[in-house]
Amino acid sequence: MRGTMAITEQFRNEIENFLSTTGMDPTRFGRAVMNDPNFVFDLREKRSPTAATMDKVRVWMAAHLGNNDFESATNPDTGTGSLRLSQRHLLGIEDLSPDEITAYLDLSDTYVEQNRRADKKSAVLRGRTIINLFFETSTRTSMSFELAGKRLGGDVLNMSVATSSVKKGETLVDTAMTLNAMHPDVLVVRHSESGSVKLLSEKVNCSVINAGDGSHEHPTQALLDALTIRRRLGRLNNLTVAICGDVLHSRVARSNIYLLQAMGTRVRVVAPPTLLPAEIERFGVDVFTDMTAGIKDCDIVMMLRLQTERMQGSYVPSIREYFRYYGLDREKLSVAHPNALVMHPGPMNRGIEIDSALADDIDRSLIREQVEMGVAVRMACLDLLTRSQHGDNSK
Ligand code: CP
Repeated sequence: MRGTMAITEQFRNEIENFLSTTGMDPTRFGRAVMNDPNFVFDLREKRSPTAATMDKVRVWMAAHLGNNDFESATNPDTGTGSLRLSQRHLLGIEDLSPDEITAYLDLSDTYVEQNRRADKKSAVLRGRTIINLFFETSTRTSMSFELAGKRLGGDVLNMSVATSSVKKGETLVDTAMTLNAMHPDVLVVRHSESGSVKLLSEKVNCSVINAGDGSHEHPTQALLDALTIRRRLGRLNNLTVAICGDVLHSRVARSNIYLLQAMGTRVRVVAPPTLLPAEIERFGVDVFTDMTAGIKDCDIVMMLRLQTERMQGSYVPSIREYFRYYGLDREKLSVAHPNALVMHPGPMNRGIEIDSALADDIDRSLIREQVEMGVAVRMACLDLLTRSQHGDNSK
């Protein structure tokens, strides 16, 4: 009779063979089979499974090996398994329930692991087409959507607006309908006009993801911010987050206010009166025009970029004065919670809204982590929305 260690070793090898043959992510495997994202990692740490567990896993693998649809393999007990997205599109956080937000974040967690592997590719979006349509400049959002689509095995096209027929006067809706006729599965759209992405979504058959529309919403930014906070602090409820700076022009602020409040966090906004939207109190936030009072005892200080490209006329007396009163530096941060963390969606204006050394301080700044989480969140969005389209919300 063989010893427990040999049996466990063989079982572990069977799983590793399954994972390498199918390309399935170990976190997803654990979730799908055992409702435990750490199952494979625990085994790798030499934890011994019970006989019943081995039977269950072997039956599952036998049923799914050679089945190309294993990625959608369902376990009704899994966290996101039974979730039905209420919408075909992701246009704003305002439209999402807390359960939907949690589903996006849970799936994003599994993609963080995939992105840290040497082999980062899977076949979740095999056969699907994603078109990125950016009418406004972007580095983080456009690159991370492109990377996300490619890592999931999809066909990704980036439409260059500068060399497209938009330059000959083609309207947004005509452009969208033209692309729609090519049967994409997802259009990722950024536009300078608030509401334009929703308008476009009403004219197409595919899913549309809002990559930022004017000063309205930037839902994937809020999701990646939430994922960053949840991974660092372990929760999204019972925190105090101060969103500081150019709130007036910020779609990031709006999406974050909706998301953080939906998840049970208290939100403050801190800005000069000229950079606060009219009736900001209606969002249910606490409003401050004094930076020290606004960030006192906060867990997270989220800085916003001064969006001079959206300003007509002067909203601040001078850049120097703005930094003096509203720029975040160590001295101002000292009134926040002693372990308070700093965030910024980027691109940053160093020395205008944030002190450069503080932005680079890995003990206090989450800015690099935000960029990493951006890829995982966008993978989760593409995955969930395409499964939702095809009537498969499992996993
Ligand atoms: N945060 C953000 O949306 O950055 P980009 O404009 O570079 O996409």
